[in-house]
Formats: sequence, structure tokens, C-alpha cells
Amino acid sequence: MRVTIRAPKPSDTDAYTEAVLRSADHIGPWNPVEADLPGLLQKQGPGLRTYLIVDNGDGGLVGKCNVANIALGRFCNASLGYDSYLPYAGTGRMTEGLRLVVDRCFTAQRDGGLGLHRLEINVQPDNQRSSAMAKRLGFRMEGYSPRMLYINDAWRDHERYALTAEEWPGLPGGDPS
Ligand SMILES: CC(C)(COP(=O)(O)OP(=O)(O)OC[C@H]1O[C@@H](n2cnc3c(N)ncnc32)[C@H](O)[C@@H]1OP(=O)(O)O)[C@@H](O)C(=O)NCCC(=O)NCCS
Repeated sequence: MRVTIRAPKPSDTDAYTEAVLRSADHIGPWNPVEADLPGLLQKQGPGLRTYLIVDNGDGGLVGKCNVANIALGRFCNASLGYDSYLPYAGTGRMTEGLRLVVDRCFTAQRDGGLGLHRLEINVQPDNQRSSAMAKRLGFRMEGYSPRMLYINDAWRDHERYALTAEEWPGLPGGDPS
């Protein structure tokens, strides 16, 4: 593994701001460019858990994944939203980090995970790098959701990918911990 995942903390603010702003042209066509880590930290709670993906070599920020809209009870479901950052984008590190996030989501709460059963990734139809990512992680395309999310000043259609815990093969090489 070239990366690890962890929760963001206030001392990440400068590195986070620099990574997001450096990557604005890469993120902007598909997601809002939001460099406000203190604001994101304030939103953390039962419905939202953010993970930073950190390079094991130099400690730089490879990307971020929001585990959002967390619902427990009979649903045990969440949506993944993610961005990779330059200069790590396209090196395969984001895929490694998202595998760690998915694994954490499906790990039981008593073992330090989120105890979820189903994850969604919602992708705009032309976002080929993200649909390739969803498929690489093993997600299935479930359907098409017109006008699903408000992004860049419009309600955007999305393809809905999903994965349940039964379908998750685990991490390549097993649990790193
Ligand atoms: C979608 C997104 C997160 C994908 O991240 P990424 O940085 O491309 O992720 P990775 O580097 O892990 O992707 C692997 C790619 O790198 C290539 N790669 C290069 N070296 C690699 C290695 N050593 N191991 C694995 N893959 C490698 C792979 O071939 C793959 O390319 P492919 O998708 O063309 O087949 C990123 O493009 C992004 O942030 N986009 C803007 C925001 C966005 O769209 N977010 C999602 C909204 S739904």
C-alpha cells in the first residue's frame, strides 16, 4: 500500500487548502472546489465522515473521500464523494485509498469501521475517470437518476453505482492493520 487513510484534523488546513487550490482545474468540471477544511470539520457527525488519503512516502494529500448521507437502521447506507489532488492524480494512489475507505465502511463498528451494508457512487455520465473508478472498485451500475445533484449551478443527471458488503472481496493482500 502506498497510502493510508485518516480523519482530517485542524492542522491539515494549510496542506488541504493548497492541495484543493492546486487541483482546482482537475476537480472543478465535476465537483465544487471547496478549500474550507474548518467548515468541513464542523460538518463531521453521524451523517458525514471524511477521510483524507495520505501518501506513505512523503505525507502529501493524495485525495479526500466524503462518506456522506450515512443512514443506519435498516438501510446502513452511504454515498461516497471524492476528489484526487495533483500531483498524485492518475498514479493509482486514489484507487488504493478508496479501497481502504470502502473496507472501513464495511467493517463492523465494534472493529472500528462504520458498519455499513451498501455504498453508492453517483457519477455524471461524462465523468469517465470517476465511472472507471467506480467500476475498478467493483461497483455495479444500478440506474440513471435525472437531475439528481446540484453541481456547478445546475441539477445534474447521474449514473448510480452501488456495492453491498456481500460483493466486497476485501482488500488486495488482506487487511493492512
Ligand atoms: C475521479 C478521480 C477521483 C479519479 O482519481 P485518479 O487520481 O484518476 O485515481 P487513480 O490515480 O487511482 O486512477 C487510476 C488511473 O491511474 C492509472 N495508473 C497509473 N499508475 C497506476 C498504478 N501504479 N496503479 C494503478 N493505476 C495506475 C490507471 O491506469 C488509471 O487510469 P484509467 O482510469 O485511465 O484506467 C479524479 O479524476 C478526480 O478527482 N476527478 C475530479 C473530481 C471528480 O470527478 N470526483 C468524482 C465525482 S463522482
